[in-house]
Amino acid sequence: MRYDNQLTQILKVQYPIIQAGMAGSTTPELVASVSNKGALGTIGAGYMSQEKLEEEIQSVKALTTKPFGVNLFVPGHNDYSPQQVEHMNAWLKPYRRAFDLEEPTVNITEEQQFVNAIDCVIKYQVPVCCFTFGIPERNIITKLKQANVILVGTATTVEEAIENERAGMDVVVAQGSEAGGHRGSFLPNLQHQQSLIGTMSLVPQMVDSISIPVVAAGGIMDGRGIVASLVLGAQGVQMGTAFLTAEESGANDVVKQTILNSKETDTVVTNVFSGKSARGINNEFVEAMMKYEGDIPPYPVQNQLTNTIRKTAASNGNKEWTHIWSGQSPRLATAQHVDQLMDNLVKQIEELVRIVG
Ligand SMILES: Cc1cc2nc3c(=O)[nH]c(=O)nc-3n(C[C@H](O)[C@H](O)[C@H](O)COP(=O)(O)O)c2cc1C
Repeated sequence: MRYDNQLTQILKVQYPIIQAGMAGSTTPELVASVSNKGALGTIGAGYMSQEKLEEEIQSVKALTTKPFGVNLFVPGHNDYSPQQVEHMNAWLKPYRRAFDLEEPTVNITEEQQFVNAIDCVIKYQVPVCCFTFGIPERNIITKLKQANVILVGTATTVEEAIENERAGMDVVVAQGSEAGGHRGSFLPNLQHQQSLIGTMSLVPQMVDSISIPVVAAGGIMDGRGIVASLVLGAQGVQMGTAFLTAEESGANDVVKQTILNSKETDTVVTNVFSGKSARGINNEFVEAMMKYEGDIPPYPVQNQLTNTIRKTAASNGNKEWTHIWSGQSPRLATAQHVDQLMDNLVKQIEELVRIVG
């Protein structure tokens, strides 16, 4: 099988596979192993301070000389009222009381953190920078391009993909509704609904509408999903959940075990954890907080308000009060070393290609 295409040439990788930069869940070992195996490992830097990001980049560089990426959250507008926060704090009181936690102070530093992260990417000559939640401002795109950084955007609709292409992204990820974690949606949709378009519908429509390479994401866990994506016209795939349960991922054990024991019917798209829509395993917290839908403060406010509750729950092995992001294919998740996962993916692709000719 020849993997060589526009995407592999742009990213300078052997295989058209991107390990999703999952904020809070990647480790230098995961990222470097994926890159050493010929795919693109990505640091999930969405929540990282500048110091932490510098440390991570240096650790990855110590483990691989191959290309890798950094994934960042594009800051948005966060309109919220003090009353919203007050109400949410009252609703979260029982959880805080159970864990003996203090009420946090909301502190929005997204914009500065983003600018610092961009400087870091340039300073350390990170080959690829991926974005979600929007498109960076023109001056940032220009700065990165001048530093020869390859830019990867995220789109959940054709319109968002066109905007990414227009802004100068080199590659766009088509994030289907099956995808685990936060939705990258950033354009308001006419029906005022979430853009929940499945990967199979989204990819070919996007491919027909733009000329930069499209990378399929959402529900892809093995060689079957990869080959299917290529048949749909994608030039590669981005996989999150499949790498999340790998030995080298930084996800907590309770997260890994819950995904490994879940079914396709167990996930929901909810904003109760962070204030932004994300797909994860349904649990007590989602069920309880869902009744306040409409009154949930936007990201990153809600994310900060629930942060210590989620972290304490996860470290206590409590899967009911923490977020467990997962795509819609948890039955296909495996617990193995990432090297093994990569070898298996390539083997599966080769076998399938032999069968279909
Ligand atoms: C635990 C987890 C965290 C994620 N965090 C991010 C992130 O920080 N940035 C991002 O662009 N996408 C993130 N995603 C979404 C992935 O980029 C990708 O769209 C998704 O994983 C694809 O669906 P799959 O999980 O079924 O493979 C995350 C996904 C998961 C499962």
